[in-house]
Amino acid sequence: MKEIALHVLDLLQNSVEAGASRVSIDITEDAAMDRLVVEVRDDGRGMQPCVRDRVFDPFVTTRRTRRVGLGLPLLAAAARQAGGEVKVESSPGRGTTVTASFGLTHLDRAPLGDMAATLIAVLAANPQLKLNYRYRRDGGETSFDTEAIERRMGSVPWGEPRVALWARDAIRFGLAEPPEPIPGPARDKGR
Ligand SMILES: Nc1ncnc2c1ncn2[C@@H]1O[C@H](COP(=O)(O)OP(=O)(O)OP(=O)(O)O)[C@@H](O)[C@H]1O
Ligand SMILES: [Mg+2]
Repeated sequence: MKEIALHVLDLLQNSVEAGASRVSIDITEDAAMDRLVVEVRDDGRGMQPCVRDRVFDPFVTTRRTRRVGLGLPLLAAAARQAGGEVKVESSPGRGTTVTASFGLTHLDRAPLGDMAATLIAVLAANPQLKLNYRYRRDGGETSFDTEAIERRMGSVPWGEPRVALWARDAIRFGLAEPPEPIPGPARDKGR
């Protein structure tokens, strides 16, 4: 069973491949509704309706390296297996929103996994990407917004190990407000 964070990694890769500059990831655990909802929204090039309508078919892909695209079909299977579903909204030139729902306590629901590692891997590979992550549960919320952090700190070298470690804790435990500038070479080098 694949962790949900790894499905999110696939979605973020789709967004990057679609030329997105800004991606938001919203995860909500709703105990009252027994639902876990994962939404990834990007401002990439979007999909033509004919692609969008068949996106759960593994033989639909616009990639050139191989003829099957498995990201969305596998996510749809994982959601269905846990009593949920996946919806894709997309408009060409404007962006795409993928919303996956799961039964929160369903026995066949995959664990959430390591969202912090996923986000950091994506940021390290795409330091210009603006990521806005929100995780809500039981009325509480943690968030991590690279734009808010960069407004405060200037450009951040997300791939640098010290920065990545700091960001991992910030994502896991939440930030009450954007942090103080990271001292030392991590900041001086900039990007
Ligand atoms: N966020 C997105 N923006 C624009 N197009 C998208 C997006 N996500 C998916 N697509 C389109 O849907 C197709 C299928 O996506 P899917 O993730 O299932 O497979 P893939 O990305 O082609 O291959 P794989 O995920 O196996 O590497 C993509 O090739 C792309 O054309
Ligand atoms: Mg994909």
